[in-house]
Amino acid sequence: METKGIIIKDAKHPRDEELSEAARILRTGGLVAFPTETVYGLGGNALDKRASEKIYAAKGRPSDNPLIAHISCMEELGPLVEKIPKAAELLAKLYWPGPLTMVFPKSAQIPYSTTGGLDTVAVRMPSDPVARRLIHLAGVPVAAPSANTSGRPSPTTAEHVRQDMDGRIDMIVDGGPVGIGVESTIVDVSGAVPILLRPGAITQEMLEEQLGKILIDPAVFGPVEKGIRPRAPGMKYRHYAPRGELVLIQLKEETRAQLRTQESPLFRQVYQSMVDSGRNLGLDIESYYMASQVNQAAEAKERTGASVGIICTDETIEEYHIVVKRSIGTRESEASLAHNLYGVLREFDELEVDYIYSESFSQTHLGQAVMNRLSKAAGYHVLLV
Ligand code: TXA
Ligand code: MG
Repeated sequence: METKGIIIKDAKHPRDEELSEAARILRTGGLVAFPTETVYGLGGNALDKRASEKIYAAKGRPSDNPLIAHISCMEELGPLVEKIPKAAELLAKLYWPGPLTMVFPKSAQIPYSTTGGLDTVAVRMPSDPVARRLIHLAGVPVAAPSANTSGRPSPTTAEHVRQDMDGRIDMIVDGGPVGIGVESTIVDVSGAVPILLRPGAITQEMLEEQLGKILIDPAVFGPVEKGIRPRAPGMKYRHYAPRGELVLIQLKEETRAQLRTQESPLFRQVYQSMVDSGRNLGLDIESYYMASQVNQAAEAKERTGASVGIICTDETIEEYHIVVKRSIGTRESEASLAHNLYGVLREFDELEVDYIYSESFSQTHLGQAVMNRLSKAAGYHVLLV
């Protein structure tokens, strides 16, 4: 199959003529990849069983992993769901359109092939103007997983989509690089208490400000035990996996406490080493120590003859002597880390490094999503130092 492409001239104000063919393809059962504010999606008609089967085939995705139905306005929600719980109404008012997916009891209209056999359906109203207009023009809810081959990092540019989907789908709509860079937050509002199933740009803090304490699905923090089906079935798969083996270096709580205590031997030793090396003392001591630990692990691996890459930040990149090093952004902005994470993982795939050592980041706000994706990419291989 030839995969057509269209480049949207002004992605903030797409013209209907630019999207009409893509909309027609969606309406008639074909597959179109399109930008959203989070990552690129691989769209098909959510009401068409065969379209969802095609999506699973194009991605090489297990068919028990349900798809998110994308809508363009509130009126399109009613027909898809059995009821709209109070919490959902509140969150929709605040965060739709936007990077929030909610799980509802499903209506009879939505085929089980879209929901992976579940009685619930995940729905999201994206804010990206191209996505929204396209869904509106298609006139059907659009089932759209991330437009990557199953197990690869989600695409944040049309070029990433082409790497994975060329020849497998009908069309790619290129609206430029996405804004956020990690997938939407998923909240299950189908039960008595809302549950966070996947962290994203609508953060736990933002949700709790509205709803009070919410539950966090254990799959957000760690590996899912064999035989247990997590609430978001996708969370059980080793997602976002780069080709090289990724190891995440994290400071123990105890280490951080020592580095915060000026009298501790560790503080003195690390501080002295910062001074001796003539390093920029603007770098905070925890980041400096983490970089030194990442360096140690990476250099030890390099001595065995393996090729090694480093994931770091603007603040620490000068600390590394390893050739293949990439900053994913600045520690001052979790949004910058989220924005660049998947692009850097894909770059490492191309460089064919055997091992990737990554710094870890704060788990608050959007950092929770960054660390969730990084730990999954690492298969939860964390080196505590
Ligand atoms: O940002 C996003 O959400 C992107 C863009 C394209 O909108 N889409 C996306 O879709 O990330 P996907 O298929 O890659 O991830 C969907 C996740 C999976 O982990 C899946 O298990 C979960 O949503 N999910 C879908 N329907 C569900 C349901 N009814 N109950 C629980 N989890 C569900
Ligand atoms: Mg995905």
